[in-house]
Amino acid sequence: MTHDAPFDTEKMWPDHGYLPHYLRIAADLGMHARVCELGVRRGDSLRLWQVLFPHGDVAGVDINPDATWPKGTTRIESAQDHPDLPELVGARDLIVDDASHDGQLTARSFELLWPQVTRGGYYVIEDWWFSWGMKGSMLAVAQNLLPLLGQPGQLVADIRYTWGLIIIRKQEARLMNLRDVLHQLIDCGSARWPDEDGQRAADAHEAVERYFLHPVPDGYPWLVRPETPPEQDARGVTSG
Ligand SMILES: C[S@@+](CC[C@H](N)C(=O)[O-])C[C@H]1O[C@@H](n2cnc3c(N)ncnc32)[C@H](O)[C@@H]1O
Repeated sequence: MTHDAPFDTEKMWPDHGYLPHYLRIAADLGMHARVCELGVRRGDSLRLWQVLFPHGDVAGVDINPDATWPKGTTRIESAQDHPDLPELVGARDLIVDDASHDGQLTARSFELLWPQVTRGGYYVIEDWWFSWGMKGSMLAVAQNLLPLLGQPGQLVADIRYTWGLIIIRKQEARLMNLRDVLHQLIDCGSARWPDEDGQRAADAHEAVERYFLHPVPDGYPWLVRPETPPEQDARGVTSG
């Protein structure tokens, strides 16, 4: 591919096979996704994001002031491990790290920017095979991500390791534990409208626990279809 091509980025190289992964991510996120890429260079990949997310917002981070930010993208001139990055980058549905490929810097960027990924969004680390075996290598980054799957607070839904890419997906909000949400709502309600002895809140907490013990309580007619339809009088009113 020449530099005149619309997207002179490795993401388009067939032997890398990155594009199909990004097309799947784009299909999942939709056209309004907010994207930020670390590593801009000539701006080709930012242009690709503009095409894939035509109603979204595209930002690029690069340490080199001579990098080229295409028209319509947000210029963030910064090192990829700068502590102000979370604020500069803001909330993003997709963050791609194609900057230094230095293990330590890559790990630091992830630490800083994973919290900026929205629920159901993605963080992609490119070229993780780079500098295998060296101190602070990308392979170490890849290995150190794995334990995140066992840490509920990190909200990692899954991690896919493909040829050259690590695709980390954040849990969607609907995967939140409904039981915890209900208990939190009761606590919020009782803080806002306290009852004298806290009995109402205690009853509500107990009801939630009972529900999760018996998820389909007796007497919910819309959940348990009666075998024979209930009788109705002449006006159509159901008896019983
Ligand atoms: C591989 S190029 C990016 C290519 C671009 N993503 C594309 O696909 O067309 C890497 C870029 O990362 C930038 N970079 C290198 N080290 C960096 C660092 N520590 N912080 C921020 N940017 C860095 C370089 O200036 C360079 O422009």
